[in-house]
Amino acid sequence: MKTTTSSLEKKHFPVMLNEVIQNCLPINKNHLVIDCTFGGGGYSKELLKIPNIKVIALDRDKSAISRAKHLEINFPTQFTFHNEKFSNLDKIVKKENKPDIIIFDLGLSTFQLQDFSRGFSFKSNERIDMQMGLSENSAEDVINNLDEKNLKLVIKILGEEHEAGRIAKNIIKARANKDITTVTELVQIIESSKRKNYNKKINVCTKTFQALRIFVNQETTELVEGLIKASQCIKSGGKIVTISFHSIEDKIIKYYFKNYSSNKSNPSRYMPTENNQKNSFFEKYINNFLTPSQEELIKNPASRSAKLREAVRTKQQFIYPKEFKEKFKKYLEIENVTI
Ligand SMILES: C[S@@+](CC[C@H](N)C(=O)[O-])C[C@H]1O[C@@H](n2cnc3c(N)ncnc32)[C@H](O)[C@@H]1O
Repeated sequence: MKTTTSSLEKKHFPVMLNEVIQNCLPINKNHLVIDCTFGGGGYSKELLKIPNIKVIALDRDKSAISRAKHLEINFPTQFTFHNEKFSNLDKIVKKENKPDIIIFDLGLSTFQLQDFSRGFSFKSNERIDMQMGLSENSAEDVINNLDEKNLKLVIKILGEEHEAGRIAKNIIKARANKDITTVTELVQIIESSKRKNYNKKINVCTKTFQALRIFVNQETTELVEGLIKASQCIKSGGKIVTISFHSIEDKIIKYYFKNYSSNKSNPSRYMPTENNQKNSFFEKYINNFLTPSQEELIKNPASRSAKLREAVRTKQQFIYPKEFKEKFKKYLEIENVTI
């Protein structure tokens, strides 16, 4: 039986809601917040309770359109929604109306994970799709067409999976007989490939599923571009708030906030000093992050890996941070391999 949206609505807990809202409180009249990852609208709904606040929300998933509709109807002058990827933030934000806050709550929504027809969960027995929306290929296309070398690299680099070689080899072997189409078939291949479960706290399939999902949706490319566009579009004094759920995301965010802040004037030792001075996008960055409270962890154990970071934009003029992309080229290159 398919899980319906209304039954999911009840179980939807926006991660670190109080902490996010505290970070977004108005600092002026006509306070503008961009919710880059609308999902179930948990943050947008709460923000719209604050007088004079305006929210522009984005989500790449078509299924978010209907969830955003009633907010558009109820808050016609305060809320707008765009079915768009956050790497295109610059197309949505107007130069004459720069945002005060930009929020990224990364990863999947409860709606996506629990809709088994989307194939994100290894508990599903449906098609291995894994597309969040506005992507070119499904995970089924990837596992049936990508060559062994690149399949191994995807699983190794994007899933940080030690046994990527064996998993990729066994996928190639299985697909030689017939296309792999269901989540159950993929789960069986992964389970039979794994010699050792290095991390007993997680399912043996978690890392390979993470890798395929990241690849299908080009998630690291999106994150790098999204952060760059956010620092280009936001007001000086405005804040970028991020919530990440795995180590690759957190590594990218931490690096950007730390190395492009005023207390770290040298983003690269290969960069001449005059350019270093120009790339202080953020005020002094202390490597601090918030995690969910004990109370939230009990109510919503899925929030356990969340890390909230925030950085405040300086007056510094935006200069495209080429070095940032260079630093994470390993991820960006593998995500851009054609199948
Ligand atoms: C963790 S959920 C957000 C939940 C939301 N904060 C709430 O309270 O309901 C992440 C959402 O971001 C969307 N998303 C992920 N990557 C995106 C991207 N690059 N551009 C736009 N939306 C994206 C997903 O489709 C998903 O709906």
